[in-house]
Amino acid sequence: MSSIRVFVALGANLGDREATFASALRCLAATRGVRVRAVSDVFDTAPVGGPVDQPRFLNAVAELECELSPEALLLELQRIESEHGRERGVPNGPRTLDLDLLLFGELTRRTPELTLPHPRLEEREFVLAPLAQLARDLRLVHCGRSVAEQLAHLRRACNAQSGGHAAPAVTAICSSPQAASQWLRERRALGASTGFVPTMGALHDGHLALVRRARAENELVCVSVFVNPLQFDDPRDFERYPRDFAADARAVGGAGADMVFSGTLWEFFPEAQGQRERIATVAAGPAALGLEGAFRPGHFDGVATIVTRLFEWVEPTRAYFGEKDFQQTLVVREIARRRGAPQIVVCPTEREPDGLARSSRNALLDPEARRRAPAIFAALTAARRSWRESGERRAAELERVMRAALAESGLEVEYAQVRDPLAWSEHAPQAPLERARALIAARAGAVRLIDNLRLDSGAEGAP
Ligand code: PAF
Repeated sequence: MSSIRVFVALGANLGDREATFASALRCLAATRGVRVRAVSDVFDTAPVGGPVDQPRFLNAVAELECELSPEALLLELQRIESEHGRERGVPNGPRTLDLDLLLFGELTRRTPELTLPHPRLEEREFVLAPLAQLARDLRLVHCGRSVAEQLAHLRRACNAQSGGHAAPAVTAICSSPQAASQWLRERRALGASTGFVPTMGALHDGHLALVRRARAENELVCVSVFVNPLQFDDPRDFERYPRDFAADARAVGGAGADMVFSGTLWEFFPEAQGQRERIATVAAGPAALGLEGAFRPGHFDGVATIVTRLFEWVEPTRAYFGEKDFQQTLVVREIARRRGAPQIVVCPTEREPDGLARSSRNALLDPEARRRAPAIFAALTAARRSWRESGERRAAELERVMRAALAESGLEVEYAQVRDPLAWSEHAPQAPLERARALIAARAGAVRLIDNLRLDSGAEGAP
C-alpha cells in the first residue's frame, strides 16, 4: 500500500510535557503502518482560548509516512492520547496530551469525526511555527499561501494590532547553539534586529525585565540558558547552582522571547572535542582586576570565554545584562568594544521590597540567611547617604561606613569597597573621587551574594 505524507500536531500543558512528547512519539513510531519521518523543534506557547490562567503549552509537529486510512490513524492518535492520561473535558482546556491530525496528503474531509485539513490550522501561530520547519513551502488550501507566508502574515497582523513589537504567541526551544544559530539565520534573512539575553537560568524577575526590555527594542528576542562551568572557581557552587530549564523556557515565553536555547559545553565549543584544555580562554582584560576578580580567580576569564562564544553563535544586535553584576558589565563592554558589536544594554538591578537584589542564588538562602541578606543593600545606601548628604568623597571613609553598617548583620563580608566606574582600578583609589560605585560581596550562610550601588547622582544603568 502506498504511503501518504501526514502532519500531526502535539500539544501538552500538564505534567512533564517534554517526557510526554518523547513517549507519544515513541508510540507513534511503534504504530503499525506509521513511520515518523521528522519532528519539529518544541515551542513554548501561550494558551489560546479555554479557561484563563491555564499553564503554557508545549507544541510541536511530527511528519509521518502513513499507510493507514485517516479514520484509522485518528483512532490510533486517540488511543495514544488516552494512554497518556488525556481525558476529554473543557474545550481548549488543560491537557496532558493533544494529538491533532493537521494534514493527510492533499485529502479534504468534512465528517462529524474528522475535518481535513484541520479547521483551525491556518489561524494558529503555535501550529504554523513548528509546521513551517518541516514544510515551509506547502500550500494551504483556504488562504492559498505557503505555510511560511501564512505564519509571517499572522505575525504581521498581530504586530499591527498591538502597534508593533507584540510578544510572540510561540517561543521556539532550541536544544543546541547550532540549532539556535540556524533558527536565527533563517529569520534574520529578513533583516531583523536581534536582542539577546544571556543567562545561567533559574530565572527571576530581574532576568525577565531584561527580556521585556529586549522585546521593546528588537524584532527578534533570544535567550540562552547555560550554567557555564568555565566561570565557577568552586565546583560545589557549580553543582548547587539551581537548574530548571522547563520553567525557564515557560518564563521567557511569558516575557516575550521568540526563542530560548541551551546546549552542552561541547556543543558551545565543538572544536575542543570534549577536552576542556582545548577551549581557548578569552582574557577578560583590566576590568577583571580586583574585587570579584580577586575573590574568584579565573571567574571573569570564564565569563569572557563563554560570552564571546555566545556572541559568535547568536550575532546579536544588542545584548542585555543586569547591573547587579557591575564588574561583569565592564568586562562584557570591553568584549563588545574589541569585537565592534553588539551594543551592550545594562539594565537597573531589580530588588525585593526589602532591598535585596534579585538573584538566582536567593533561592538557596535558608530563612535565617534570607533575614540577614538585606543588610547588604542597607550598607550600600548608607554609603550613598554619606556621599550625598555629608559630601564624603574618600574611598576609605565610604568603606568604613559600609563596614560599620554590616558589623552586626551576621554576614561574612568579603569586600565592601568603592571604585571609580569610568577608571576601574584593582585597588581602592587614594585621591578623592568625582564619581563612585560602592560594591559589596558577602556570604549569608553558605550563599555568596553580591550587590552594588551608584553613589553619585547619575542614573542607575548608565556607566
Ligand atoms: O550573568 C550571568 O548569568 C553569566 O555570567 C553569563 C553572562 C550568562 C555568562 O555565563
